[in-house]
Amino acid sequence: MAIDIQWCKKFGVGHTDVDREHQLFLDLIRNVSEALDRQEPKDWCLRLLREVEKYVDFHFFSEENLMLKSGYPEYLEHQKKHAEFLVSLSERVQAYASDRINLEAVVVFLFDWFVMHSAQMDKKLGKFLKEQP
Ligand SMILES: [Fe+2]
Repeated sequence: MAIDIQWCKKFGVGHTDVDREHQLFLDLIRNVSEALDRQEPKDWCLRLLREVEKYVDFHFFSEENLMLKSGYPEYLEHQKKHAEFLVSLSERVQAYASDRINLEAVVVFLFDWFVMHSAQMDKKLGKFLKEQP
């Protein structure tokens, strides 16, 4: 069954750059989900997952720069979550590559994490950034 991955207003954290990057993050997750629906070749699905990994790494780095620039007090905690996610994602991509889990499990993991992290930690950051002079 297809997983419906669409941007919706509730994902917004109220910061233009973060929201723009989150939309692209979601677009890349959707690409993987659509490749799953179309049963595209595994090599191609792995390329798409690698693209997600590269983009997420970039996106986290730029979010962390916003935190450093603004003196965000929860930087370390937030940065740790980003680092943990990158490790978990890479483990899952490896597991998929070696047929230990299916692609749907990776897509569900990506989408759930996105929703949970943007709704909690990134919203907190967005609120803090908004309050800065
Ligand atoms: Fe974040």
